[in-house]
Amino acid sequence: MHLLRLSFPIILVIFACCVSAQHDHEHHRVNVAVYYESLCPDSRKFFTQQLYPSLQGNLSSYVNLTLLPYGKTKATFDVNEYQFQCHHGPSECYGNKIQACALKLIDQGQKSEGLGFNRVAAGFINCLMDKATRDGDKATFPTMECAQLNNVNNLNLIENCANHTDGSNYLSILGKLTDTLQNPLKGVPTIVFNNQLKEEDNTLAQTNFVKALCQYIDGVKPEECTKNASTGLAVTSTALLVVALALTRWSL
Ligand SMILES: *[C@@H]1O[C@H](CO)[C@@H](O)[C@H](O)[C@H]1NC(C)=O
Ligand SMILES: *[C@@H]1O[C@H](CO)[C@@H](O)[C@H](O)[C@H]1NC(C)=O
Ligand SMILES: *[C@@H]1O[C@H](CO)[C@@H](O)[C@H](O)[C@H]1NC(C)=O
Ligand SMILES: *[C@@H]1O[C@H](CO)[C@@H](O)[C@H](O)[C@H]1NC(C)=O
Repeated sequence: MHLLRLSFPIILVIFACCVSAQHDHEHHRVNVAVYYESLCPDSRKFFTQQLYPSLQGNLSSYVNLTLLPYGKTKATFDVNEYQFQCHHGPSECYGNKIQACALKLIDQGQKSEGLGFNRVAAGFINCLMDKATRDGDKATFPTMECAQLNNVNNLNLIENCANHTDGSNYLSILGKLTDTLQNPLKGVPTIVFNNQLKEEDNTLAQTNFVKALCQYIDGVKPEECTKNASTGLAVTSTALLVVALALTRWSL
């Protein structure tokens, strides 16, 4: 009885703490916007080596991700339709449209439960960034393979969209958002945290996205944010030990 009376408030406190922590988490996501191009080598590297791998673990619930596959594309409005000129040639425009359409049409653009992005769309796009091939001006996007690998069940709709006015319209919306950030866009990819373009964050994110993102996570940070620090510590202490051993030997 005594024990119960004592432990009840403690249980209550623990409960309140953890439930509110989970809530915070839902509402304090870091806005991450990535301005990139479907055939840009630096964008492909960033996507496949930094962004996508970083979002497989706990960090996935700390971001609100916006992908803008437009970059340095230029648009004109011609004969009732947008015409695009893409940085890496006409094939890239098709690649950008496939991605713009995938972002709109996979689960109607809804984010996956508990995440700040759609898991299927992100996987599909990562696969295209990884596996697209270029031969001069021609590029091949393995849409079928990437759809199968990521359980995309409406590839026909997506390709149809990319080949028609819808795709042009979706891409033009991304173009307007890109122009609003910076016109002309200086670098591709450009990574923006919490809606403010900062050159130092953008540069850091290219080679260490986790570190750049973790700067913006308030309160208790997920393990991924501190993991490397402790690896660094372990490396440092191992190095010190080696030096100490060497010194001991040397002095003997
Ligand atoms: C995610 O967080 C949990 C709990 O803090 C931790 O045990 C796990 O190792 C983390 N995952 C990664 C990939 O760091
Ligand atoms: C997530 O980002 C979108 C912009 O892509 C924005 O409209 C939305 O308000 C953001 N959500 C949160 C919770 O900040
Ligand atoms: C869409 O266009 C691409 C490239 O122009 C072509 O390879 C593909 O077969 C077309 N797909 C559909 C569904 O029309
Ligand atoms: C992790 O450590 C390596 C080697 O010490 C370093 O190059 C890298 O920038 C660090 N990454 C993070 C996330 O701090």
